[in-house]
Amino acid sequence: MSKLTLRNLGKSYGSTVAVQSVNLTLAEGEFVSLLGPSGCGKTTTLRMIAGFMKPTAGRIEVDGKLLSSPDTVVPPEKRGMSMIFQSYAIWPNMTVAENVAFGLKLRNLPSADIKRRLDKILAVVRLDKLADRYPAELSGGQQQRVALARAIVIEPAVLLLDEPLSNLDAALREEMRSEIRRLHDAFRITTVYVTHDQAEAMVTSDRIVVMNHGRIEQVDDPMNLYHHPRTRFVAGFIGRTNFIDATAENGQLNLGGISVPAGPYSGKLSFSLRPHDIRLNIQAPWTLPGKIVERAFLGEYWDYVVQPNNTPLRLRVAAPSREVHNIGESITIAIDPAALVRLDDPE
Ligand SMILES: Nc1ncnc2c1ncn2[C@@H]1O[C@H](COP(=O)(O)OP(=O)(O)O)[C@@H](O)[C@H]1O
Ligand SMILES: [Mg+2]
Repeated sequence: MSKLTLRNLGKSYGSTVAVQSVNLTLAEGEFVSLLGPSGCGKTTTLRMIAGFMKPTAGRIEVDGKLLSSPDTVVPPEKRGMSMIFQSYAIWPNMTVAENVAFGLKLRNLPSADIKRRLDKILAVVRLDKLADRYPAELSGGQQQRVALARAIVIEPAVLLLDEPLSNLDAALREEMRSEIRRLHDAFRITTVYVTHDQAEAMVTSDRIVVMNHGRIEQVDDPMNLYHHPRTRFVAGFIGRTNFIDATAENGQLNLGGISVPAGPYSGKLSFSLRPHDIRLNIQAPWTLPGKIVERAFLGEYWDYVVQPNNTPLRLRVAAPSREVHNIGESITIAIDPAALVRLDDPE
């Protein structure tokens, strides 16, 4: 069943269009990320969902009930949602248990009920042994877990998170993104998660909404987004890629100097080809002679730039860590045509 629906949602500030024609439906219990570069409209969309901001177009519904339109906005406290911001303030003068139980006490739940819910969530976020500590006695990650527990324990209809990990260091961010997914698996609260970090979106989400200039570019699960990006923007934003512009005529596909049978293609086309989908010195349906022009060792893999002979093309290749080639070395570039992803927006 659909839980949260955005229909033609839009927000303009005077002549600045921050969000435009956003259509999105979340199923009950689904975890969806809004992913995109700074300024693409993620926070504006989230604040409209939370009820902090009135849309200038479209509507927001929860369980089929209208919550926001340009004429009406149900206020945040009446929407049954929890929101966590970048600066996840927890109350310094309350213990972990008091912080987490606060929202339950506010709702006048029976104390046995409060204790049961509190015990469960503190165990899930591994704070059960720290229940009596004050925030100043906790690490950054532990404080973050208190904020998450406090938002989830009230079992909101929808949980909203706006870049909740961006104040943490890299190692902690990596730990917490898995933690957030684990919490979701335990409580299944319908969640909208805003981030500009693709790995965070991929680890946490059932589906990812890629936004650019206030619009949705593509909505898909993480694997489809990576393997079947539809536009240049998505292909370049989710992981690294090679863009290859091509022309298909007279049964031949010309990829910047490389000519291969055109197959189903015709006219001007653009493809995305991931660095891991190009191999060196192996048999493949397409092989081209070329040479290594640049290289960088990144530990987990080699980042090579190769140039097919007699072409201006330069292709990035990710090769296994122990596959060493020198600059200037002649190699065979092997491409599986099935790995070419045709983009909707040729240049
Ligand atoms: N109060 C405001 N007045 C005018 N423009 C704004 C305001 N808030 C945000 N914007 C603009 O709206 C666009 C989207 O902003 P925002 O939703 O904060 O992006 P994100 O969260 O993706 O970084 C940006 O171009 C931003 O400059
Ligand atoms: Mg933002």
